[in-house]
Amino acid sequence: MTAHAAPAASLQVLHWWTSPGERKAADLLAARAAEEGIEWRDAAIPGGAGLGAGKVLKSRVLAGDAPEVSQMIGVSIAEWADLGLLLEIDNVASGGNWNNVLFPTIQTLITHRKHVVAAPVGIHRVNTLFYNRALFARHKLAPPQSWAEFETVVHKLKAAGVTPLAQSSEAWQVAALFENLVLAESGPEFYRQLFVRRDPAAAADPRTADALRRLRIVKGWANGQIDERSWPEVARQFARREAAMMIMGDWAKPELRDLGMVLDQDFACAAAPGTGRYHLYSVDSFTMFGGDYRNMAAQEKMARLLVSPPVQMDYNVLKGSVPVRRDTDPSRLDSCARASWTMFALGAAVQAPSLVHRMATDEASRDAIIAEIHRYFLDDRTTPTEAQRRLGVMFRLFNLKNQGAFGAQDTDRR
Ligand code: BGC
Repeated sequence: MTAHAAPAASLQVLHWWTSPGERKAADLLAARAAEEGIEWRDAAIPGGAGLGAGKVLKSRVLAGDAPEVSQMIGVSIAEWADLGLLLEIDNVASGGNWNNVLFPTIQTLITHRKHVVAAPVGIHRVNTLFYNRALFARHKLAPPQSWAEFETVVHKLKAAGVTPLAQSSEAWQVAALFENLVLAESGPEFYRQLFVRRDPAAAADPRTADALRRLRIVKGWANGQIDERSWPEVARQFARREAAMMIMGDWAKPELRDLGMVLDQDFACAAAPGTGRYHLYSVDSFTMFGGDYRNMAAQEKMARLLVSPPVQMDYNVLKGSVPVRRDTDPSRLDSCARASWTMFALGAAVQAPSLVHRMATDEASRDAIIAEIHRYFLDDRTTPTEAQRRLGVMFRLFNLKNQGAFGAQDTDRR
């Protein structure tokens, strides 16, 4: 009689990695989990920036059907942890010496009321400018480092009949462009005042007006040809050489690789214009739902695996992000990732938390700000002053709410 092998532990993993490039990165994690005797039951929910995944997660938890593991990022980790639903993985963190090996910003993001509640996997740079090297060489252009250079490059490309920038009008992608413009104009300190503290004075500030004006100028470059393409479609447009530039998080890099474009030959990365000294980040991480602790051993194993050095390196190469570990050897990273990791390693003064990717504020405020920016972008009759006024009103309401029931928690978090 053959002995029965112990049944493999099985964890359902909810995430929003559905593009071909993202899929490969998720598959690598699933394969590594399998080697550890854990079956990764995949629950992938389409929608860039986790638009659909956030909603599905909420309704599943309300229906008492939480997945064992879920991609969860930024401030939403604290929101879920506040409800007491997340497994504390302090043992894993102390066993892996996370306190010392992770960047301090990462450590803060995954810690809630002194307990570690998430396993971080990678850092994306949202202020990445992808440019087509052949088109830039043909038109004798250098990647633009400031807004003024950006305008010059765009005008030269347009004069040559080349679409300068691949850009979608999808709400989160418009807001991502806007946060890049805010950062370029004003740097991380003002950026935080606007998106983290949501200070009405920042909404009224001339720097916000400038960023709004620039958002409209970028829209004008598309000659009315902007539509709600998903981000992989934007990447495909860039890969087909139908646009010379794209401002997008570096998750687009594997997509371009998949489409046959070679980094440093066909395309290269630079920082979005004006943001060369900053890192606008989105940190991916996974949380474990506590439930009845039946799966705790497997969940802890999974958390340990995700942060382990070999998985960190292999996963991030496929995902286009960079390791969350300070003990990474940057010479093993490609040019794009090396610039990102090295910049992030400089610390909080150069880092800006992406609003769109939930790093800056709670889900409700984020959604409301994105909707407002999107409305302004779509309707040319709305003036920057009007958009600023609306943002200001919104910020005052958020602040009132924060002084109430949620006040104490919110202050804890920042
Ligand atoms: C995540 C990335 C993902 C991107 C596009 C971001 O919020 O951090 O991992 O690739 O959204 O969906």
